[in-house]
Amino acid sequence: MDLLSITDLSRDDIMGIINRALEFKKMKKQPQILDGKFIVTAFFEPSTRTKLSFHRAIKGLGGKVIDFIASVSAIQKGETDIDTLLTLEAMDIDAFVVRVRRNGAPMEWKNYVKVPIINGGDGTNQHPTQALLDLTTMYEHFGRLDLKVAIVGDILHSRVANSLTQGLLMFGGKVRFCGPKEFVPARYDGVELITDSLEEALDGVDVVYALRVQKERIEKLPINIDEFFRRYQINHKTIKMAPEHAVLMHPGPFNRNIEVSDNIVYSERSLILQQVKNGVYSRMAVLERVVGS
Ligand code: CP
Repeated sequence: MDLLSITDLSRDDIMGIINRALEFKKMKKQPQILDGKFIVTAFFEPSTRTKLSFHRAIKGLGGKVIDFIASVSAIQKGETDIDTLLTLEAMDIDAFVVRVRRNGAPMEWKNYVKVPIINGGDGTNQHPTQALLDLTTMYEHFGRLDLKVAIVGDILHSRVANSLTQGLLMFGGKVRFCGPKEFVPARYDGVELITDSLEEALDGVDVVYALRVQKERIEKLPINIDEFFRRYQINHKTIKMAPEHAVLMHPGPFNRNIEVSDNIVYSERSLILQQVKNGVYSRMAVLERVVGS
């Protein structure tokens, strides 16, 4: 079994992962279900949260991590990504967690690799474990997932927006996209509102989900960053456009004082560090499902 896209999972699968993640979170010591398993993290793009929370999750379940680092590997001598994965698989490993710049690469690699692959993010396409940790965090906070969520910022270049939107829609969530026209799609199946007005987007929501401008995926920035900051930054003033009960979320990494202000990132309305913590336990639940059985 693999986890390549959030749409690989049913609503019941997702609820099972959320409940298991919250069980793992309560345990002092988790069961050692990955004892004797070797899991390779092969990240061809930078990561702090996803890679290291997978390391923490694997080790917490008694498994061993082999961390492939592309910049000091035979990739530098011209070896391809698929030859790299086949070489690592031949070392009798049990699963891969991957991240890659190219959309759809993990799905292609499945034509060659037999061990399970967990997608830690492919280009602008999918980031299923981010969606799972976000849904876990929302469920933990609100006790339900039929929430109104405004996703604000660079949605067009965001794999997080895809996976999270698809996950929320499965639970009857109402999703809104907000940003300058250069950063939002013209249409998106199931999204109730696509707007360039922050005030309209935040009206009546439960969650304000801010996104970073994905500069690494954009050749020439199509917007003026000062204008973006003026119109779309989530700060103490703009968060007031949302109801008092609304919380701030962000997948990280965030750019302080661009999409979110300094004084709000760790405020009491922010669930950002709770998202990071739940990342460990959601990934434990995914590893149990994909590798542990
Ligand atoms: N949210 C996320 O994927 O963060 P990293 O790039 O640090 O893994």
